Amino acid sequence: MLNILTIIGTRPQIIKSNILSCELKKNKNIKETIVDTGQHYDYEMSKIFYEEFGIIEPDINLNIRHSNQTTQISIMIQKIDQVIQELTPDYIIVYGDTNSTFCAALAASINKTKICHIESGLRSFNKNMQEERNRIVTDHLSEYLFVPTNNAKLNLIKEGFKARKIKNYGDLLLDASKKYSNKICSELFLKKYNLNKNKFILLTIHRQENINKDTLNEILESILKLSKKIKIIFPIHPRTKRLMQVLNIKFIENINFKMISPLGYIDTLCAIKNSKMIITDSGGVQREAYFLKRFSIIIRKETEWIEILKQKSSVLVRPKDICMAYEKFFDHKIKNKNIIFGDGKAAKKIANFMESLS
Ligand code: UD1
Ligand code: UDP
Repeated sequence: MLNILTIIGTRPQIIKSNILSCELKKNKNIKETIVDTGQHYDYEMSKIFYEEFGIIEPDINLNIRHSNQTTQISIMIQKIDQVIQELTPDYIIVYGDTNSTFCAALAASINKTKICHIESGLRSFNKNMQEERNRIVTDHLSEYLFVPTNNAKLNLIKEGFKARKIKNYGDLLLDASKKYSNKICSELFLKKYNLNKNKFILLTIHRQENINKDTLNEILESILKLSKKIKIIFPIHPRTKRLMQVLNIKFIENINFKMISPLGYIDTLCAIKNSKMIITDSGGVQREAYFLKRFSIIIRKETEWIEILKQKSSVLVRPKDICMAYEKFFDHKIKNKNIIFGDGKAAKKIANFMESLS
C-alpha cells in the first residue's frame, strides 16, 4: 500500500487536488490523506469548493490563519512536521507555489520524505515574488516534478534537473475545466447577476504586487473608466477587499461595475465562458480563459504562462493601459491549442505513475 500525504491550503489547490484525488481513489494500492493547512479559510475561499466537489471536509484541517507571513510559515512547518511524523507517508504531494507548498516541502525534506511537486517548473524570473521563491525551493527539494507544459519542462532542464525526474502529463486545471464545464448553467448565472452573454468583463485581482495603495487605485481608476463602455463584475479576493477597507475605498460601484463575493468554481467557469474578455492577475483564471477561448488582459509585468502570451491570447499591461488594451483586443479571436496543456487526462496519468511507485 502506497501511503500518500497531500498538502494543500489555498483555493486553486483545492480545485486541482480534487481532480487528482478522484483518480487516486480508484486505485486500491494507494491511500491518500489530504491535509489543508487552512491558509485560505473564508467560506467562499475554501469550504464552498469542498461542497461543490462533494467532499465535506479535508481529512485534516490545520486551521492556520495567520496573515503575518513569518508567523504563518513557522507555524505551518511545525504543524506539517507533526502530521508527517504521525502518518509516516511514503510520498508527499504538493501543488504550485504557495506558502503551504513551501512549508510542506521543507517539512517533508527534514523528515526525508519524498516529494512529488505538481505544477512544477513554472518561472516568472522575478525573485521579488514570494511565489517564485516558493516554487524554486520546492522544485529543488522534490523527487518527481510534474510539469503542466513543455515550457515548464525546459525551464527545469535549463536549471540542470535530470530529465528522468520530470513528468509532463499536462495541466490538472484543463482536466478540471473539462470535467466541470458541462455543469455550467449560463442562464441562471446571467440572470442572477443581471448580465448578457459576451457583454461583460470578469475582473479578478489578488497579486501582492497589485494590492498596494498606488497600484490598486490606478487599477480601479482604469476599471471605472472602462465601465462606461462595458459591464464589469469583480469577485473580490479577501486580500483585495481588506486593502479597500483599509484605504476606505467605498461607493465606487455603478450600474456597470459590480463588486461581488468570490465565486464558486462552476460559477467562475460560467462567468469566463459567457464573458467578452477577462482582466486578471490570476494564473488559474488566465489559463481557464484560454481553455474557454476568451482573451485575457493580464495586469502584471510578467507571466509564467508564456504559451498563452505567445499565441496572442493574452497581453501584459500596466494598470493605466487597461482601457487601451480593451479597445485593441475587443474583437480578437482566440484559436486555442489546448494540447499545449495536455489532453485533459493529466490526473489519470499522474495517478498511474503514482501506482507504479507502489
Ligand atoms: C495565495 C498564494 C498565491 C495564490 C493565491 C490563490 C502565497 C504566498 N500566495 O495568495 O500564490 O495565487 O493564494 O488565491 O501563498 N485572507 C482572508 N481570507 C481567506 C484567505 C486569505 O482574509 O480565506 C487574507 C489573509 O488573511 C491574508 C490575505 O488575505 O492577509 C492574503 O492571503 P494569502 O493566503 O497570504 O495570500 P493570497 O493573496 O491569497
Ligand atoms: N476562482 C474561483 N472563484 C473566484 C475566482 C477564481 O473559484 O472568484 C478559481 C478560478 O476558476 C481558478 C482558481 O480559482 O481555478 C484561481 O485561483 P486564484 O486566482 O485565487 O489563484 P492563482 O491561480 O493565481 O494561483
